[in-house]
Amino acid sequence: MDLFEYQARDLFAKHGVPVLAGEVIDTPEAAREVTERLGGRAVVKAQVKTGGRGKAGGVKLASDPDDAVAKAGAILGMDIKGHTVHRVMLAETADIAEEYYVSFLLDRTNRTFLAMASVEGGVEIEEVAATNPEALARIPVDAIEGVTEEKARQIVEAARFPAEIADQVVDVLQRLWTVFIAEDALLVEVNPLVKTGEGRVIALDGKVSLDANAEFRQPDHAALEDKAAANPLEAAAKERGLNYVKLDGGTVGIIGNGAGLVMSTLDVVAYAGEKHGGVKPANFLDIGGGASAEVMANGLEIILGDPEVRSVFVNVFGGITACDAVANGIVQALALLRTKGEDVNKPLVVRLDGNNAELGRKILTDADHPLVEQVDTMDGAADRAAELAAK
Ligand SMILES: Nc1ncnc2c1ncn2[C@@H]1O[C@H](COP(=O)(O)OP(=O)(O)O)[C@@H](O)[C@H]1O
Ligand SMILES: [Mg+2]
Repeated sequence: MDLFEYQARDLFAKHGVPVLAGEVIDTPEAAREVTERLGGRAVVKAQVKTGGRGKAGGVKLASDPDDAVAKAGAILGMDIKGHTVHRVMLAETADIAEEYYVSFLLDRTNRTFLAMASVEGGVEIEEVAATNPEALARIPVDAIEGVTEEKARQIVEAARFPAEIADQVVDVLQRLWTVFIAEDALLVEVNPLVKTGEGRVIALDGKVSLDANAEFRQPDHAALEDKAAANPLEAAAKERGLNYVKLDGGTVGIIGNGAGLVMSTLDVVAYAGEKHGGVKPANFLDIGGGASAEVMANGLEIILGDPEVRSVFVNVFGGITACDAVANGIVQALALLRTKGEDVNKPLVVRLDGNNAELGRKILTDADHPLVEQVDTMDGAADRAAELAAK
């Protein structure tokens, strides 16, 4: 989960990283009072989850409270790289002497953590890496040892930070590492980290990405989720504990058991769809091993609730949960949905294979549900589901 700048700033502050005061608002008028509180001047900053806000006109200096209202009015509602600005942060203004870059991230290729640092910050770091790679220091960080004072000094020296601020940067790096570890982050980036005219080191912009796999031990992180931006179907699926991802522009709903099978089902449907005018899968949904009637009903309910879905492909390979259990699950799920008053009116193409496939198919044949159609092969079922969606 990527965080907004103001959320990253809050996490920085929690772990003692020096940041500037700021407040988030969502109406231009609110800027007046906040700017007065901040001392009469403020930087108005768009809160969107993308970089390059400054370049896009989403970061502006306001010289007085009236100006802040005008700038907030101009930035709110702005579109930055496809993200609409719903909120702005008003931050204290920094007297910037120099801009640097520091980050910690997971380096998957080298199976380690990585610190990156440069005294050429402020600009996009990809640009520095491409045009002047020597200016970007890359220092591996051992997961067990972490960023000790010694490691922090090594980073400071490699990036050639000025001597007069070396101690401050060493301290900031250790604190940022604490953010990285304590909050279970995958990325902690500060761009720019600045030196002020008085020689103070402050984190002016923060980007933090949290590891969703650590949610179970980070109860506070649920509150950081951007509920407004979440897809309503995905949110409903998450509430029911389903592994569901909505895919844009697709019309064939997909249910399968096992992530690998579902992934290949998406491919097969997309391929079959080419023959039917470019029909595509509408979602990823893995109902996992124990495909009980309840899980199947929950899955079907989410998928049938997607107005873009025109047909559903249930692709199951029976393993520990055998096909007869899944077939019963489907039959009961359809009955369950009917009693709940759900309008089940989209065709279901079911392919059962693997453990007890014949028994499973017989159960579905005997149930004789008008919307359920069986096809024995994965390719054939994908083709039929795509054909039905194209109708
Ligand atoms: N509080 C602030 N005071 C003064 N200048 C700022 C402040 N915040 C940002 N800036 C300036 O605006 C630039 C862009 O802001 P930043 O927060 O890094 O957004 P982005 O990286 O999305 O463009 C910074 O490099 C810095 O020069
Ligand atoms: Mg920045």
